[in-house]
Amino acid sequence: MSIPWVEKYRPARIQDVAGNDEAKKAFVAWLNKWLAGKPGKKAALLYGPPGTGKTSLVHAAARQYDLELLEANASDVRNSAALERRIWRALTESSLFGKRAKIILLDEVDGINPREDAGGLAMILKFIENTRYPLVLTANDPWDPKLRTLRDKCLLIRFKPLGIRIITSVLASICKKEGIFCDYQVLRAIAEKCKGDLRAAINDLQAIAFGKKRITLEDLDMLGYRAKQADMFEIVRMVLAARSPEHARSVLSLPSLDYEMLMQWLSENIPHQYAPSLQAIADAYDALSLADIFLQRAKRTNEWSLLSYALNLMTVGVASARDKPKFRFVKYSFPQKIRLLSQTKKYREIRKRIASAIARKCHVSTRTVIRDILPFLFVIYEADAKLAEEIVKSFDISPKTFRAIIKQ
Ligand SMILES: Nc1ncnc2c1ncn2[C@@H]1O[C@H](COP(=O)(O)OP(=O)(O)O)[C@@H](O)[C@H]1O
Ligand SMILES: [Mg+2]
Repeated sequence: MSIPWVEKYRPARIQDVAGNDEAKKAFVAWLNKWLAGKPGKKAALLYGPPGTGKTSLVHAAARQYDLELLEANASDVRNSAALERRIWRALTESSLFGKRAKIILLDEVDGINPREDAGGLAMILKFIENTRYPLVLTANDPWDPKLRTLRDKCLLIRFKPLGIRIITSVLASICKKEGIFCDYQVLRAIAEKCKGDLRAAINDLQAIAFGKKRITLEDLDMLGYRAKQADMFEIVRMVLAARSPEHARSVLSLPSLDYEMLMQWLSENIPHQYAPSLQAIADAYDALSLADIFLQRAKRTNEWSLLSYALNLMTVGVASARDKPKFRFVKYSFPQKIRLLSQTKKYREIRKRIASAIARKCHVSTRTVIRDILPFLFVIYEADAKLAEEIVKSFDISPKTFRAIIKQ
């Protein structure tokens, strides 16, 4: 696996963003007004289904107009006081002479739940109110009634699912650039299946074309195969029971394979499958831990060429453990770590909310609050509940919310 084609072929210029001509026109007109110093609405909300080019259009425009792009996922901004400050600074900074103009993208604002987190919505409204630069928001589904005020403040730009013809032609141009011969019918079948989502279509194409220079209708069977593959048990079995490196590696061509999830599942189930051979278990874990190192490094350094080492290690590497016992059917179990994380999700969410409120006032990171401040608040609470609640209130946190994380 090399770089994902969805990244490699992300449209570089506005005209490369396929389809949705009206949306593009409206966006460019809005941006031009801004840059001429006469913004209509200060923010534009690009909305519509995933994989239709919302994020790509903003990237392409930034490049073409030579704007400095500041981009963040809206929920991340909401959950990190530091990031929120950074965006705020960028939005409100007066444009110094000679400095590049900016555009700011808050991606996926509907990821903020307006019911549970009124502050998140208020944050965005405050951003819109105060921005000195074009502010772009994106959302898949902005029709929550609570987002009404937000919608009123934005220029709404709708992205529709992409048509089959457009998708087919994008796929064809990718094949051409990759030097792959592909039957038109195959491309059309991929396009039909992805329901207007070009990201999904490109991912499917890359999976089918994996290691090939010519794609035929038979290769499409893989897509049918893919429909059945959601079962993680089966994938784990394919790796652990693989009789050859090719078998083990074949799971990598499942386009929707979530390799981080696969690592959790392997980590949980290696001992089930490879017991009683300690040698096999040790070898398999060695390969898996090496995979983890490569993966983390790839993520940290953005050096995605390391990904293929991680992927090979977690499949072929694990499967080539020495002294594997003969294959037998064992019952796999769901990864404990994921179960634990989901059981404590609510608790961690509340804790994070409290921590970020404190973080903002104390000018430290949420992490520091969780590590250095919360434990003391708990101690204070034990000694003098009233006092602790007073302190908490001074951070604009309701004592009730605070008590919710103490009982744990
Ligand atoms: N309209 C489009 N034209 C060209 N490529 C697209 C288009 N829409 C999506 N893609 C492809 O899919 C990927 C994801 O698109 P993205 O802009 O992130 O979608 P969205 O933000 O609407 O979910 C892009 O990197 C690109 O490869
Ligand atoms: Mg997007």
